[in-house]
Amino acid sequence: MKKYSFVADGQSLITSEALLEELAIQRQDYDDRPRSQSLAELSLILDLTRQQIDKDLAPATIIDQLARSLHELRAKSHPDIWRELIPMAQRHGISKYLLQDPFTRWSHDKPRGYSGDAQLLDFIYGHESIADEVANSTPTGQALYAYTREASSSVAVRERRDLLTWHVDEIAKARGPDTEILAIAAGHLREANGSQALRNNALRRWVALDQDPLSVGSITRDFAGTSVEAIDGSVRTLLAKPDRLGKFDFVYAAGLYDYLSRKVSVKLTEACLSMLKPGGSFLFANFAQDIVVDGYMETFMDWALLLRSKADMWDIIEATKASDDTASVTFGANRNIVYGMITKAI
Ligand SMILES: C[S@@+](CC[C@H](N)C(=O)[O-])C[C@H]1O[C@@H](n2cnc3c(N)ncnc32)[C@H](O)[C@@H]1O
Repeated sequence: MKKYSFVADGQSLITSEALLEELAIQRQDYDDRPRSQSLAELSLILDLTRQQIDKDLAPATIIDQLARSLHELRAKSHPDIWRELIPMAQRHGISKYLLQDPFTRWSHDKPRGYSGDAQLLDFIYGHESIADEVANSTPTGQALYAYTREASSSVAVRERRDLLTWHVDEIAKARGPDTEILAIAAGHLREANGSQALRNNALRRWVALDQDPLSVGSITRDFAGTSVEAIDGSVRTLLAKPDRLGKFDFVYAAGLYDYLSRKVSVKLTEACLSMLKPGGSFLFANFAQDIVVDGYMETFMDWALLLRSKADMWDIIEATKASDDTASVTFGANRNIVYGMITKAI
């Protein structure tokens, strides 16, 4: 049986067990339906998909219907039962068909050894680094990828990248040439590609921290000769020595809180706030609840995330902010990602 694994790097201070428990605590909106009903429904969904594949229906139609059905089933099932269903779906024959999608395949195979690596995000960004993987996929795989890269969650991740660029540029304009930025779990720092402030040399430094040496290497290579400084480091090291990197005008984390329990999220937020200069801001992003592809991601992509509501984001903010800090929680355009922002008083 395939292991249901989430933990990004073994250093996120949480175990798979803890994340599964967190997921179960978080979800309380399911029906009290019998286990046998959920099992039977999953069998029906998977067999119907198999029939559609045999009938040669368009890949986008097949995967769209499958993703919607899994989303509904996930929402209705008790979290413990849903956890049982995941490996059953993964073992079904239709998995071979879906793994033709290079994005699904990368997520499932985890070539870097953990879920949610920066190269996976490059499938969402449509970056040239994944061009060969796409070109070497079957026509069906490419058609499935045309769907997965346009799924609402993927659209939201591209918007997140652009919002980060926008924030960095606005903060640089407001705070001048001494502006210092810190990206935590920076991945490949794709948001820096579009930054005017970076291009115009209007930043003192843009520190990009990630626990994956391959991602750190990619940033070092791509941004050589700029104010970007790539650092090999984890949340754990940051929590142990939050003073090590100095103070910043803007600290942000995107694609990280989705893997962190509430306890670690609160600790990390405290550490990030302690790294801000007066008037500086901290931004953290999280996938929101009720994203349509959640069931597909957790089964065939083997990519589970802790989804957070607006109230969950406020809960982290209220547990960390000082009384004179200001804060907001906002959604992206399609509400698949929620953003928490805390600004220190001047
Ligand atoms: C989903 S990617 C997001 C990358 C980038 N922020 C973006 O939005 O494109 C998650 C990144 O978090 C990094 N990561 C995961 N756990 C980490 C930890 N405990 N400390 C530092 N980086 C971590 C991974 O190495 C990976 O590059």
